[in-house]
Amino acid sequence: MSHNTFGHLFRVTTFGESHGPTIGCVVDGCPPRIPLTEADIQGFLEKRRPGQSRFTTQRKEPDLVRIVSGVMTDEAGVQVTTGAPIALLIDNVDQRSKDYGEIKDQYRPGHADFTYDAKYGIRDYRGGGRSSARETAMRVAAGAIARKVVSGVTIRGALVQLGPHRIDRSQWDDAQIDENPFFCPDASAAAFWAEYLDGVRKSGSSCGAVVEVVADGVPPGWGAPIYGKLDAELASALMSVNAVKAVEIGDGMAAAELSGEENADEMRAGADGKPVFLSNHAGGILGGISTGQPIVARFAVKPTSSILALRRAVDRFGAEVDVRTKGRHDPCVGIRAVPVGEAMMAIVLADAFLRHRGQVGVGPAWPFPRS
Ligand SMILES: Cc1cc2nc3c(=O)[nH]c(=O)nc-3n(C[C@H](O)[C@H](O)[C@H](O)COP(=O)(O)O)c2cc1C
Repeated sequence: MSHNTFGHLFRVTTFGESHGPTIGCVVDGCPPRIPLTEADIQGFLEKRRPGQSRFTTQRKEPDLVRIVSGVMTDEAGVQVTTGAPIALLIDNVDQRSKDYGEIKDQYRPGHADFTYDAKYGIRDYRGGGRSSARETAMRVAAGAIARKVVSGVTIRGALVQLGPHRIDRSQWDDAQIDENPFFCPDASAAAFWAEYLDGVRKSGSSCGAVVEVVADGVPPGWGAPIYGKLDAELASALMSVNAVKAVEIGDGMAAAELSGEENADEMRAGADGKPVFLSNHAGGILGGISTGQPIVARFAVKPTSSILALRRAVDRFGAEVDVRTKGRHDPCVGIRAVPVGEAMMAIVLADAFLRHRGQVGVGPAWPFPRS
């Protein structure tokens, strides 16, 4: 099963299954002398950890991370990265394979059961094996290290739509995001969602969501043209997250409805001569290269496919069956996808930053003097 590695200079390889003893990752290419402790990583894992509200799965996964290589204590007594590969491990402690006994030979519609079996000929029915989003815990852990590589950048994710219900953008308040179980910036939308999702959960169903991730503080110049476009890499990174079915950068799909005048992010000279953009339809990326504006990405997460409601399917032997998935599943996996989206943004930006240094050295002194 190839393709477990992501990134170029900042390179993340994950391993492990949901019902194996451990999941882990190796972060290769992290620069040396960056202070790094387990506590730096744990805070981000807490945001993804299940069982924190009635709106996420009740699986008990403490997700305690261990750093097993790539750090040492320096002369000042601070634990720092050495530049060597950083290996991280998290023990799996709350597996209940028996929850999956009934679907051992059945393919859950909407899940990866059929395609994995068709390709590899082996069915890891215990939580989906490698297709389980348990793997995304390691993305979040690696993302915490990536954030330290691009420490001048602030990355913030939020849920902007739950099922068909969008937030009211005029009510956006960053301070609200950590005040409700949805990472929702609109307090009244969060209250409404709570009622809505209770109904979804009690009926044994599930719903989708839209997540928005914004990176502030990225200077102009990161990314590359042609096959190394920052927006292409971001789209690939976010699309690789389980259950993601669409990614938008900036205005995304809506840009097709704008006129050229509306879509143009006009520029004026700022006090320091640097351009000030009057809008950000482009989402902070032009020609695959960052503009210095906030980088804005949104992604759509489909409804959880493991649901209690009966669905028609087939089994491994080609017989028709009706599938009901018991066990502890999120009624909306989009909620826990918020920290995962933030992590993928951080990993892409750390990789772009390191490559940018290699591509241009110290870079041009912009704006150029008029000759
Ligand atoms: C944070 C997170 C948690 C998830 N938890 C579940 C889950 O409990 N049950 C489930 O059926 N799918 C869950 N998923 C989605 C599946 O992993 C995913 O739908 C499946 O692997 C098929 O892949 P695809 O949807 O990307 O095509 C989760 C996704 C994310 C991002």
